[in-house]
Amino acid sequence: THSLRLGVAGLGTVGAAVVRMIARRSDALTAATGREIRVTAVAARDRNRDRGLDLAGMRWFDDAVEMARSGEVDCVVELIGGSEGKAKETVEAALAAGKQVVTANKALLAHHGAALARAAESAGVALAFEASVAGGIPVVKALREGLPGNAVARVYGILNGTCNYILSRMEREGLTFEACLKDAQALGYAEADPTFDVEGFDTAHKLAILTSLAFGTTVDAEGVSVEGISRVQPLDLRMADELGYRIKLLGVAQATEAGIEQRVHPTMVPKSSAIAQVMGVTNAVTIDADAVGELTLIGPGAGGEATASAVVADITDVAAGLVRPAFGRPSTALRPPSRAEMQRHEGG
Ligand code: NDP
Ligand code: HSE
Repeated sequence: THSLRLGVAGLGTVGAAVVRMIARRSDALTAATGREIRVTAVAARDRNRDRGLDLAGMRWFDDAVEMARSGEVDCVVELIGGSEGKAKETVEAALAAGKQVVTANKALLAHHGAALARAAESAGVALAFEASVAGGIPVVKALREGLPGNAVARVYGILNGTCNYILSRMEREGLTFEACLKDAQALGYAEADPTFDVEGFDTAHKLAILTSLAFGTTVDAEGVSVEGISRVQPLDLRMADELGYRIKLLGVAQATEAGIEQRVHPTMVPKSSAIAQVMGVTNAVTIDADAVGELTLIGPGAGGEATASAVVADITDVAAGLVRPAFGRPSTALRPPSRAEMQRHEGG
């Protein structure tokens, strides 16, 4: 069979790690999929920036949209970021041209996921986004493929590595919020605009994606109530500590009588609880479902290598010819559940 030709849009923390991982794991990826996987094209803003990457054999595009439309690419890997602008145009152009799409862009999916999923379905191509939620943790796969016999009642967790890293270091080392944020940025954890991390919007984007996968509803980022960690003071952490608690930024989605409630806010968790042990850039996602009960996945929530791990998993699915409806069911049928369905779901 012919090789899978990738066009990687964005060569920052994640994009550069993906290009390196595909080179490093080339034989293993071919063995896993039966196809050679090659990066044939790349796009970023600054052609002259030294990225420490060997781009030999890859065509450079100044315009990611042009790359998405080019005949040299079968699958577009979007790692630019942002819900609007070039990232959105690139994904839309790729789907319109019948190209497969892999993305780590939770902001894009949270705001335009339903429309993009419809475009992918009508083109008969994959729209894959494992890396968009909880970095290296394969939670999209778990929710979409691992639990078809379950009705999910609740999904919650620590979904932003930057915030958990900041809170952990403030608590343990007594550092200031600003110093911790600076380090998170230097390590490649934070969003291009870190306001998205610290004000809770990034967690909200990820929660909206998880909600859709878990409950079969249309992705609804606007429906999330959001409070971030920018107002958490060292004194708050000390007081929580004295009372036997830690403060974590949680995203919570649960079925209620009124519908699916989605909220993001700093939460006091007992120090003895499992979620309180999750420190640093680590994320944790707990799924409460009727058949399996409670299931928790813990792992790295951000960083180039961990995130590339999830991107490359999607790429191998594409290479193997797996095309699943993006949110687990034909997105044209997506709609919030009716009140009667909600009540049946809750068993009352
Ligand atoms: P970076 O800011 O490190 O990299 C962004 C890349 O996109 C850069 O190479 C930049 O080019 C390129 N770019 C920006 N604007 C354009 C444009 N208009 N046209 C073409 N290329 C452009 O971001 P990350 O790698 O950290 O994040 C990428 C995506 O992955 C985002 O959606 C992010 O939310 C997501 N993500 C990030 C994680 C992480 O840990 N960092 C984890 C999970 C998801 P140039 O280099 O020339 O400036
Ligand atoms: N900025 C994000 C975080 C990247 O810190 O969790 C991973 O999505």
